[in-house]
Amino acid sequence: MASTAMIASLGPLSLSTPLVAASGTIGSVVEFAAVTDLSAYGAATAKSVSPVAWPGRAAPRVAPTEAGMLNAIGIQNPGIDAWVADIGPQLSALGVGVIGSAVGYTVDEYVTVAAKLAGCDLVAIEINLSCPNLEGKGMFALDSQATADVVRSVRAAVGLPLGAKLSPNAVDVGEIAAAAAESGADWVTVGNTVWGAAIDIERRQPKISAGIGGYSGAAIKPIAVRCVLEVRQSNPTLPILGLGGVQSGEDAIEFMMAGANAVGIGTAHFGSPKIGRKVLRQMQTWCERHGVSDVQELVGVAR
Ligand SMILES: Cc1cc2nc3c(=O)[nH]c(=O)nc-3n(C[C@H](O)[C@H](O)[C@H](O)COP(=O)(O)O)c2cc1C
Repeated sequence: MASTAMIASLGPLSLSTPLVAASGTIGSVVEFAAVTDLSAYGAATAKSVSPVAWPGRAAPRVAPTEAGMLNAIGIQNPGIDAWVADIGPQLSALGVGVIGSAVGYTVDEYVTVAAKLAGCDLVAIEINLSCPNLEGKGMFALDSQATADVVRSVRAAVGLPLGAKLSPNAVDVGEIAAAAAESGADWVTVGNTVWGAAIDIERRQPKISAGIGGYSGAAIKPIAVRCVLEVRQSNPTLPILGLGGVQSGEDAIEFMMAGANAVGIGTAHFGSPKIGRKVLRQMQTWCERHGVSDVQELVGVAR
């Protein structure tokens, strides 16, 4: 049979494939473009950027676990002005649409970063709501009102397609997704890392300096798929970028069946920088074997 149509979209953001490279796992995208062919991705998301440079946390910041990895990088980044000056001019030559990622401690900080990102050659902006919130109590993405405040303010400041990156640590991720959508997000990214910790029993200390960090990789896939199912169930028409532990085409199809319109790949890049091509090829093979003419037919079929 003819090959399966593989295009996708996240609201107004058109994607040439359903795969998106996840923030923080491919550097600024520029470094990643130097080692891998990006044509497997419909878009690639840059590392989150804050209003001023963040140095990140002290080492050790990453620890492998039995399944997956723990990290507490602390969103080390050069700050938006340096990012715009250094990375901005290189974006158009990368051969893939780049999604800029904004992070901050306050609503105003998100707006400042997003407005400056909007002046760069980006296809969209993702708001990383899964970071500490000094204005309130914990992560923005744990609270509907805090999520709505950020999304509404950023929406008013930028015209680019806008995604809100949510957290699997939220008690009711469907409710947070609804708040993001009502405030102007074009899609929700579901989701980020899961809080975790590991102890080095010889040193009798946590393995990462922060003590508690973000757990990612294959082991979190069932948690992320559960979150996508919940968001799809409570928000039937909201575009979803699903991610968490994707390593194969079958994993990506699982996310789409749960309700994701597109699928992100994160931690798997550290072991296999070229994994996107493999995942896309496996998706195509699976679809062709199962008589699927358009990959979008699979979105949300599992109920
Ligand atoms: C080392 C590392 C750094 C990350 N940095 C960011 C970041 O800066 N911004 C962001 O939105 N997500 C960040 N993430 C989260 C990933 O984009 C992704 O949401 C998460 O790891 C779950 O997907 P995965 O299991 O495929 O990695 C980071 C993840 C890792 C492992």
